[in-house]
Amino acid sequence: MSTSRARYGVGLQQMVAAANAGLTLRRTCNAVAKAMAKSMDVNGCRVLLLDAKKGYLTTVGAFGLSDLYLRKGPLDARKSLPEVLQGTIAVVAHAPTDVRVQHPEVAESQHVVFIAAAPVFKGKDVVGELRVYSKETRTLSSIDEEFLRTCANLCGVLFERAELAQFQERVTQSSATAPLAGSAPQVPITSLRPTEFAHESEAEFAHLLDFYQIEWLYEPRSFPLAWNGDGVSLMFTPDFYLPELDLYVELTTMKQDLITAKNRKVRKLREKYPDINIRLLTRKDFAGLLSKYGYGPFGAAKVEGVGPVLYSQTQIQRRVRSLARRISRDYVGKRVVMVGILKGVMCFMSDLMQHISLPVRIDYMDISHYGGDGEVVRIRRDLDSSIAGEHVIMVEDIVDTGMTLNYVLAHLAAHKPESLKVCTLLDRRVRRLANVKLDYVGFEIQDEFVVGYGLDYKGEYRNLPFIGVLTQK
Ligand code: IMP
Ligand code: MG
Repeated sequence: MSTSRARYGVGLQQMVAAANAGLTLRRTCNAVAKAMAKSMDVNGCRVLLLDAKKGYLTTVGAFGLSDLYLRKGPLDARKSLPEVLQGTIAVVAHAPTDVRVQHPEVAESQHVVFIAAAPVFKGKDVVGELRVYSKETRTLSSIDEEFLRTCANLCGVLFERAELAQFQERVTQSSATAPLAGSAPQVPITSLRPTEFAHESEAEFAHLLDFYQIEWLYEPRSFPLAWNGDGVSLMFTPDFYLPELDLYVELTTMKQDLITAKNRKVRKLREKYPDINIRLLTRKDFAGLLSKYGYGPFGAAKVEGVGPVLYSQTQIQRRVRSLARRISRDYVGKRVVMVGILKGVMCFMSDLMQHISLPVRIDYMDISHYGGDGEVVRIRRDLDSSIAGEHVIMVEDIVDTGMTLNYVLAHLAAHKPESLKVCTLLDRRVRRLANVKLDYVGFEIQDEFVVGYGLDYKGEYRNLPFIGVLTQK
């Protein structure tokens, strides 16, 4: 008993020293995890942060655990040792067979047998966990438990300090835009962002997803692709997982020859894990993603003008009439409400409705656009009248990643329409991230930025009567 007290004394000293060394949160937590594992004489330890909104646990620091174990997949806080979130210590005597362990097969392959977890508190709320792992089963004495709780409390202090630092940084950055009185944002239990991105474009992509309020996890899973005897010889860790869309995204801003190697890995992953959805976004894809906001790497590019005409006025009119005929047939005997998103949809919606032979009501929404400034998507102008019990057709100019539509459809569905369908003039399926169902599609287009017939680049070209490709110098 006295020996463990002495060891714990040394361990605490080391942890406090690390906490005072002015390191990043990640490095401090790594040091805490190491001191923790050493003093408790276990094989590994990790510090986890709970994202209360998303319901996932994210690793903030770790020691002694394999990459395969650390990135065994998204850790759902409700499924993985849920009692810790109630504030109690959880002890797992045999991880491979315990129902509270979310990925028992990985525990087995990585020889994790014993797990003990303590809650990390911020006030009365649980904001994270401190977990220790051992290859052998053991029991926790009351002194062990006390130590675990003490170290978890230290992690709570570290989290709060990091959160404060991040908050101050944000305030200094945006001191010009003080919040309006009476519109205080809802403060989450913790707003701490634990992720350290490997690359600037990853941070940008995360911002974009945040804007559209699409959940993301950074590198939550490593996929073994090849084995060498007992060990894994080739592994692939996609950058992002988007749980709502059940999609992994690998961002690559690298040179073409490296992309070829990446492509090979992605192909292998698809072969070995056919149920996994993964998208590879190249530098060009990513630039394209941001360019439509007149922002990002393409935003600064000089626009030369409008190149080839993709669809002439006549072609567009013919297609619009045929869509209107289909809609009129499908909704015969009913009345519909057509909802458009400003401003790109103006031309299309006005032509479309003139050819629909049903009672039609129209309404518009306007939503804010991504500016990379930490804002989230906002409805600037909502519908004029209720759509409850109505047959609603959401009309779009173009569906690209699908993130806009994903957001707007969720908003409209909450108003309980009788039915909700989507009609878009253009569908750029090759860039889709959010898998939204499109009921009526005018044309499917390839990976080119288009303008005209309502579509703009930085506010211009909407008045062209045809759809053309924007060319850049
Ligand atoms: P998403 O959210 O990525 O699907 O983007 C859809 C929105 O981006 C559309 O409503 C358009 O306003 C805009 N957009 C996407 N691609 C283009 C384009 O090629 N030209 C002009 N606007 C575009
Ligand atoms: Mg639009």
